[in-house]
Amino acid sequence: MNGSPNMGNIGRLFADLWRLLRGQDRRGHKVRWLVAQLRPYRGRVGLMFLGLLLATAAGLAPPYLAGRAIDSGILAGDLSALDLIVVAFVAVSVVYALATYLQTYMVGWIGTRVLQDLRERVFTHIQSMSIGFFTRRSPGVLISRMTNDIEALNQLVTTGVVTMFSSTLTLVGVVVILLVLDVKLALITFLTFPLLAIASLIFRVVSAGAYKATRERIAAITAYLQESLSGVRVVRSFGQEPRHLDEMTALNEANREVNMKTVYLNASYFPAVEMLSAIGTAVILLYGGSQAIDGAIQIGVIVAFVGYLNTFFEPIQQLSQLYTTYQQGMAALDKIFDLLETKPDMVDAPGAIDPGELRGEIDLEGVWFSYGEEGESGADTWALEGVDLHVPPGQTLALVGATGAGKSTFAKLVARFYDPQKGTVRVDGHDLRGVQQRALRRQLGIVPQEGFLFSGSVRENVAFGRPEASDEEIEAAISAVGATEFVAALPEGLDTQIGERGIQLSAGQRQLVAFARALLAEPRILILDEATSNVDVRTEKTIERGLERLLHGRTAIVIAHRLSTIRRAGKIVVLEHGQIAEQGTHDELIAANGPYSKLYGAWSESSAA
Ligand SMILES: Nc1ncnc2c1ncn2[C@@H]1O[C@H](COP(=O)(O)OP(=O)(O)O)[C@@H](O)[C@H]1O
Ligand SMILES: [Mg+2]
Repeated sequence: MNGSPNMGNIGRLFADLWRLLRGQDRRGHKVRWLVAQLRPYRGRVGLMFLGLLLATAAGLAPPYLAGRAIDSGILAGDLSALDLIVVAFVAVSVVYALATYLQTYMVGWIGTRVLQDLRERVFTHIQSMSIGFFTRRSPGVLISRMTNDIEALNQLVTTGVVTMFSSTLTLVGVVVILLVLDVKLALITFLTFPLLAIASLIFRVVSAGAYKATRERIAAITAYLQESLSGVRVVRSFGQEPRHLDEMTALNEANREVNMKTVYLNASYFPAVEMLSAIGTAVILLYGGSQAIDGAIQIGVIVAFVGYLNTFFEPIQQLSQLYTTYQQGMAALDKIFDLLETKPDMVDAPGAIDPGELRGEIDLEGVWFSYGEEGESGADTWALEGVDLHVPPGQTLALVGATGAGKSTFAKLVARFYDPQKGTVRVDGHDLRGVQQRALRRQLGIVPQEGFLFSGSVRENVAFGRPEASDEEIEAAISAVGATEFVAALPEGLDTQIGERGIQLSAGQRQLVAFARALLAEPRILILDEATSNVDVRTEKTIERGLERLLHGRTAIVIAHRLSTIRRAGKIVVLEHGQIAEQGTHDELIAANGPYSKLYGAWSESSAA
C-alpha cells in the first residue's frame, strides 16, 4: 500500500522540503544528523550522484535524437547525418545502461551500510539503558525501532533521495527541452497540466479518508492478533476460540471493505492519467500537426514532443508516491531520535571505582525507593520506606513477607538495577553509585523466579557468565546443583540445543540450568528471588541439596517459600509494606511471637496438609 499517488502530494513534498531547507522545520537537526550518517561514504555518494546525473541526462536524449533522425536524416535524405545520429543514439543507450548500473549499485551499497550502522548504533544505545527503561518499554516497540523504523529511514536516504533527484531533474529537463524545441507548442502542451492538477485534486479529496481508514483497520488487526496470540493459553483454556474467530472475522471483513475503496481509487487513477496523457498527445498532434502542414514546425519536433510527453508522467507519479516515503521516513526519524535522545539513566559516575574482589558486605542506610518516574516524584507509593540493614560478608539473608512487600525491590537495589531516591546502598562500604556497574555485576549471581535461557546448547547457557570456563568446571557446577542426572539424560548431554530451535525444558529443568549458571560464575553475592517457586517438589529437593554448596562462602539474599532454607538463614528479615517489620534468626523470631511466627505457623500448616 503506497498511499495515494497524486499531484497534491508533490506540492506538499516540496513545501515540506522547502521548510526544511529554510530551517523552519523542528526536524532540521535530525535531518542533518541523518545526512551525517552518510559522511563516511561520501566518495560513494558522489559516485551515486554522478551515475544519477548521467543516467537522467542520457534518459532524456532518445526522443530528441529520434526527432533529429527524422528531420536531419530521413527527411533531409542525409544518410551520413542519419548514421551519426544513430551512433549517438547507441552511445547514449550505453551511457544510460552503465550510469544506471553505477547508480543502482551505489544506492544498494550505501543503503546496506547505513542500515547496518544505524542498527548497530540503536542497539548499542539500547544496551546501555537501565533495567528500569526495559520495564517501561515493551520489547515489541524496541524491535520495531530496530527493524521497521530503521528500514523506513534507509528507504528515505537511498531510494527516496534518488527518486527525488532523478524525477525532479527529468521533469525540469523535459520542460526545458520542450521550450527550447518550440516555445509555442511547449506552452500549449503545458496547458493540459492544469487538467492533471484538477484531476489530482478530485482524486485527493476522494482518497484522503480511504487510506487513513485502511491504516487504522490494519492497526486494529495487528493489535488484536498480538493480544490473542499472547493470550492464546487463556483463550484455549476457556475454550473461547469461536468467539476469537468471530472477532477476527469481523475485523478482517471491515479491513476488506475499506481496502476495496482504495482498490476502486487505484483502478481509476492510472486510466485517468493515461487519458490525460492522451489528451496531451492529441493537443500536440492537432496544433503541432497543423503547424507542420503550414511548414512552421518540423515533423521531428512533433515526434520528440510526443516522446517527451510519455516520459513526463512517470516522474510525476514517482514524486507523488515519494511523499509517503518521506512521511514514513520522517516519522521513523522522530521515533528513533526519541530513543537515541533518551539518555541512559544509570551510567557509571566519572570517578566510578572497580572495587576488586568483593567480600560481600551489604549495607542499606535509610533507603527509600519508588518506581515512580523521577519527575513525578510525588512518590506516595514507596516500594521501600526507610530500610536500614547490615549484612556481614558470607551471611545468608532470608527475606520474607507478603507479595508486594518489597522483597524483589530490595534485591534489585542491591544489584543496582535501580538507585534509591533517598539513602544509600553499600557493598563492602562502597556506595553503589560510585562503583563500576560491570565490576559489581560480574560478582553478582541472580537467579530469578524464571531463569531466562538463550537458544544454544546447555553448555553455552551454563557458561553464559564465564564463557571461558572449562568442561570440568561446567560439569562441577552442574553436579553441585544436582543436575548431572538430568543433563546426562538429554539426547546430546551438555551439547543439547535448547530454546527456540532446540528441545523444550521444563520449568524445573530450566531452573537447574539457571542455578548452575549462577554457581559457575562464582559470584561473591548471590540473589535467589523465589528461584524455586516454579519448580516441582522433586527438583526443589535436588536444588535444596545443592543450595548448601551454592551458599557456602558467599553472601546471599534468599527470597523463598521453602521453610528449610529460611530456617537455616543467618538472618531473617520480615518486610511489610516496604518496611522492616522484624529481623533476627529463626529461633529469635519464633520466640518473639511476632509477624514471622504467624507466617511460619501458616507455612507449617500448609506444608503439613
Ligand atoms: N517495575 C515496577 N514498576 C512499578 N511498581 C513496581 C514494579 N515492581 C514492583 N512494583 C511495586 O513495588 C512494590 C514492591 O514490589 P516487589 O518488590 O516486587 O514485592 P515482592 O517481591 O515482595 O512481592 C509493589 O507495590 C509493586 O506493585
Ligand atoms: Mg517478588
